[in-house]
Amino acid sequence: MNDKIIKEFKDRFHQEPSLYASAGRINLIGEHTDYNGGFVFPGAIDKVIMAAIKPNGLDKVRVYSVDIKEYVEFGLEESDVPAQSWARYIFGVCREIIKREGIVLGFDAVFGGNVPLGAGLSSSAALESCFAFALNDLFNNNSIGKFELARIGQSTEHNYCGVNCGIMDQFASVMGKKGQLMCLDCRSMEYEYHPFDPQGYKLVLIDSVVKHELADSPYNKRRQSCERVAAHLGIDTLRDATMEMLDAAKSEISAEDYSRAKFVIEEKDRVLAVCAALDAGDYETVGRKMYETHEGLSKDYEVSCEELDYLNDIARQCGVSGSRIMGGGFGGCTINLVKDEQYDDFIATAKEKFASKYGHEPKIYHVNISDGAHKIQ
Ligand code: GLA
Repeated sequence: MNDKIIKEFKDRFHQEPSLYASAGRINLIGEHTDYNGGFVFPGAIDKVIMAAIKPNGLDKVRVYSVDIKEYVEFGLEESDVPAQSWARYIFGVCREIIKREGIVLGFDAVFGGNVPLGAGLSSSAALESCFAFALNDLFNNNSIGKFELARIGQSTEHNYCGVNCGIMDQFASVMGKKGQLMCLDCRSMEYEYHPFDPQGYKLVLIDSVVKHELADSPYNKRRQSCERVAAHLGIDTLRDATMEMLDAAKSEISAEDYSRAKFVIEEKDRVLAVCAALDAGDYETVGRKMYETHEGLSKDYEVSCEELDYLNDIARQCGVSGSRIMGGGFGGCTINLVKDEQYDDFIATAKEKFASKYGHEPKIYHVNISDGAHKIQ
């Protein structure tokens, strides 16, 4: 991939670029907790977006996507927002750096990657983090802190892409470290690295290939439900809510808002339980909690879909230790923690059963926990 992107850059712009990359992410547990001030437990993966970039001395950005095979030019003023949705991620990152009084001048770029799109692996965060990291290096002498780079990606989603997301994806993409998951407290923004090397188990993602689009989707509505309940309880976020508080207010809020908040309160505790189980090497408890999360996401938070519930059922039937829908929901992948000896049978069964029900096989992704945003050359 490196060579392809650099060659494309040289063919188009006849210059020697720098090359940067940033990663997609998995999340072991802690879904829809980030924008509620709770905990998340993600890690960066070895599926990345890479960009070859060089300042061009002009007042515009010229960028080519090798995967979409599209070329776009845009200026750096607020009114220059491009029409193509993929280009808005890059434009948004430029604008968010400028709004923070950082410097972005004209540049040329070619980018591409192998983070599957719409699979819940945060290809958009990888794209934002890659450009935020690169523009910090090229124009700002790396003076913008890494956490702020993640916030620049998050603000890009809010202000230019219509997704009112939390910080998890961009945080994982920027801060990820090889072989380590990160337990992030999304209220204090404190985080700890936890080694992840499950001996005797494999982590595998199964992609239903059902596409989800978070903009204008129920994602923002879920967030609104949580904010409504927090406001009703007189607290900043559901991080400070307990089931006792929620039950006391049950008759004053809608049944739907109650279910959403119940999931978030329960999920918050599950992340801490998984952190402790992981440190103790107790992967069966980790797996059990993953199933509980799936149940909550499917029944209470209602962000699953038939195909993902079916993949979860197959995992249970095969005796897989843990399985759940991963990411924002409404399609994408399940994440599965599988004993080595069950792995082959599980994958074969999942492919066969899914294909006979839906007419196509799910995609299987093996991921390794890897480094986040970095310069390659
Ligand atoms: C998406 C968002 C994240 C997070 C997850 C759900 O990936 O971008 O901020 O809310 O959904 O956990």
